[in-house]
Amino acid sequence: MVREAIVQGDSLPEDESQRDAALRPRKLKEVIGQKAVVRRLTIALNASRKLKEPLSHILFDGPPGLGKTTFATVLPQELGTTLQMTSGPALSKPADLLPFLTNAAEGSILFIDEIHRLPRVVEEFIYPAMEDFRVDIVLGEGINARTISMPLKRFTLIGATTRSGMLSSPMRDRFKMQEHLDFYTTEELSQIVTINAKKLNTPLAAEAAREIAARSRGTPRIANSRLWWARNFAYSEANGDITLEVARAALLMAEVDEQGLDKQDRRYLSTLIQVFDGGPTGVEALAATMNLPTDTLSDEIEPYLLREQFIIRSPRGRVATPKAYGLLGVARIKDPAKQGSLFEE
Ligand SMILES: Nc1ncnc2c1ncn2[C@@H]1O[C@H](COP(=O)(O)OP(=O)(O)O)[C@@H](O)[C@H]1O
Ligand SMILES: [Mg+2]
Repeated sequence: MVREAIVQGDSLPEDESQRDAALRPRKLKEVIGQKAVVRRLTIALNASRKLKEPLSHILFDGPPGLGKTTFATVLPQELGTTLQMTSGPALSKPADLLPFLTNAAEGSILFIDEIHRLPRVVEEFIYPAMEDFRVDIVLGEGINARTISMPLKRFTLIGATTRSGMLSSPMRDRFKMQEHLDFYTTEELSQIVTINAKKLNTPLAAEAAREIAARSRGTPRIANSRLWWARNFAYSEANGDITLEVARAALLMAEVDEQGLDKQDRRYLSTLIQVFDGGPTGVEALAATMNLPTDTLSDEIEPYLLREQFIIRSPRGRVATPKAYGLLGVARIKDPAKQGSLFEE
């Protein structure tokens, strides 16, 4: 079904989550990059098959769009087992989680996205399930309350989080494998974009693939959405082929700059530089000024800006680097009042 939609191309979903699902690798060997992670997972899979034991619980962490859900969906396919998916915010009480646990077949996988957002009570409920494959259910109330222990099938929990730092340490320690996903190289993104253009039946020149890859913030999901836009642009403004020229024009129109930064990234940097004089400033103040949730800044915008050293994180807050000033074409003259010591000496 999905395959057909891909081949037809035109009937592809506009919705980002459906697009992700359509372009997602199905097997571990289709996964590009993250070599060390893939190697460790391959070993875990082989061992699990040979020992006929479930895979150990795995935690994936890293910024959005780097492949956490991809790995979580590829693993059950490799094992030929079933996958149940839910997320931290959807589980407000133990009773919300219970059906997932009781439905879990031997060796199957339960994926909890945004696991750092699990409420405490649910987190505590999940510990015995992870450790001993049982749940403790309290029946009745007050002095009549009693706890019954219910055995579960041996399943594998896969957790994903954009912030492993926000996970409690008892929770984190129960994951025997912890895999951090890092940003991708231009070369890797170039491969991903090339493969996905084929899935979309869109001619994509090699230089255009590289251009899109280099301007995608090291992130496959962003590369996919830039590719998607370039494809629409090519059909509307040209003959449907994504040449280097078409790719550049499409990115220009999408307001993606040479470095791959988008409007939101530049707004972040100009707020930091123009409103807060380059910092240091707290992320909450920046978020309030930009009228965005703090999480959007720390989970989505900042990781790439930090990694590319447009900003640094100091104990007193975020600071813009000379590279950020250069990008915005702003001279780096600090407010003399704030640089008092320089002038007093
Ligand atoms: N290693 C990879 N190889 C190929 N494509 C990838 C890879 N990682 C991510 N992608 C692409 O990026 C999209 C978003 O990845 P996803 O797993 O949903 O990210 P996350 O769950 O970390 O936010 C996927 O649909 C897939 O097309
Ligand atoms: Mg995901």
